[in-house]
Amino acid sequence: MLAQDTKNFLRFLTLTVPGGIEDTLAVPLFHPLSPKEIGTHLKRFAQKPFPGGQPPKTHLNIHIPFCSSLCSYCHCSRVKLKNREQLRDHVGLIIDQIRTFAPLLKGHEFTSLSLLGGTVSLLEDPAIDQLLTEALGRFTFRKKTDIHFEGHPVSLTSAKLRLLRRRGVNRINLGVQTLDEKVLKNIKRNQTRKDVEKCIKAVRRSGFPCLNVDVIAGLPGQTVTSFLKDIQDLIRWKVDLIHINPFSDIVGSACYRENPVDLAMLFNRRQAMILKAVSLLGSAGYSNRSLAGYQRAGLKYKAGKQTLPPDDHAGAVLSLGIFARSSLPGSLVFETLPCDDTFSTARYAGHPVDQRYAMANYATLHLLDGMDIAAFRRLFTAGPADIFQKELLALAEEGLLSSDGKTWRYCGPWTIPGLFNYYSLTKILYGKKMLDALRRTYAAKYDPAADHGSPKNLLRIFQDLWYTRTYYRLGYKSCWL
Ligand SMILES: C[S@@+](CC[C@H](N)C(=O)[O-])C[C@H]1O[C@@H](n2cnc3c(N)ncnc32)[C@H](O)[C@@H]1O
Ligand code: SF4
Repeated sequence: MLAQDTKNFLRFLTLTVPGGIEDTLAVPLFHPLSPKEIGTHLKRFAQKPFPGGQPPKTHLNIHIPFCSSLCSYCHCSRVKLKNREQLRDHVGLIIDQIRTFAPLLKGHEFTSLSLLGGTVSLLEDPAIDQLLTEALGRFTFRKKTDIHFEGHPVSLTSAKLRLLRRRGVNRINLGVQTLDEKVLKNIKRNQTRKDVEKCIKAVRRSGFPCLNVDVIAGLPGQTVTSFLKDIQDLIRWKVDLIHINPFSDIVGSACYRENPVDLAMLFNRRQAMILKAVSLLGSAGYSNRSLAGYQRAGLKYKAGKQTLPPDDHAGAVLSLGIFARSSLPGSLVFETLPCDDTFSTARYAGHPVDQRYAMANYATLHLLDGMDIAAFRRLFTAGPADIFQKELLALAEEGLLSSDGKTWRYCGPWTIPGLFNYYSLTKILYGKKMLDALRRTYAAKYDPAADHGSPKNLLRIFQDLWYTRTYYRLGYKSCWL
């Protein structure tokens, strides 16, 4: 069995560094890195076979951190755009990054590309065109590259859509959140229901193989009735994929700070919305596709050779632009940060990671629904028991995992305390080196006498995006979606 203090520290970590399956555990260990050090890691990543000779699927992401106005619920890394020069400077910065990094990754094949924000559709057409030309021309991509573009209904114009289609973009991710005018006002989001309808119809007309729409359940002033009406409209407009995001990271949001509400009541309302929407989607023929959200029946979308984005998490992501986080398994996790408030120059912070870190990330994601031992072996050339023997046994003794010889899977309760325990205790998979480094980092903040798994803390965890998505089994976007 795990020692009581180990469990308590792992629970403390889960509360302090939330983020479930995302690469967040290395973040508290980030330290400044020079562009030269980033270059050395990239070069090594491209040359070093990972982990057993197969390079991981690598995704390229371009991040535009600006928005024309800031929605008051939003938890994303974004800033209000000051002027058009700022946008132009940032595009220049990304092009510099492309030109510096691409030669270091020569020969390394990328499998997909996304342009995410912030608000990418704020970019003018020539800037989008240039970014696509630079990225697709200088990095090596596989033949059928999956290209995603995230847009805001107000700035994603028909002309932009035509350009994106011409340039091979095959999936549009549209931020909608709500169609209710009263809620839109409450969340300070500059769009109308009409803007959304017009944009969705324009996407349909432009012939994209896939349109994904994001909505949020639990926003201020939203009711079960208004949320279901939104879902009905999206079904009627034949949206291909619907991502329901439970309103999360609530207490840190501007709208909560301006107008605090009772969290337990909000969770009840949010739960009713989600459960009813899921049943409505089911009766309209939409099915849950894990990482991909809810998918319309008969959708023929093919991302590369897959019908939907891959759900393995051994992939790598190189992310360009300010606030973008990159994850190079077996090598480095790092973030691009601004040098000042102009956002025109970049600095880097990050932490080296070993292959065990990638394996622990993969396991944490897959154990919940059953981790196939043979698949793990194919990916990492060693079986889970070769790497995590002691840890898997300890987690089995804790009543969290069981194995039938073919899979290892979560066997605890599908409740918030159960999932909290799962996400906390499975952190032992990351290994002693990583956990000791985190203990040193948090030496002053960690109170071993406090009960970090108390009900008060669980209420707090129930507003974290990963936990709520897992709890409702809504599917989640991986870091490269
Ligand atoms: C990085 S945002 C970019 C979206 C795009 N700028 C737009 O608003 O059209 C991606 C998605 O995160 C989700 N999101 C943002 N804040 C959230 C929050 N507090 N809780 C849950 N989901 C949130 C929204 O559904 C949003 O579409
Ligand atoms: S939801 Fe989108 S538009 Fe609104 S602040 Fe967040 S990133 Fe910007």
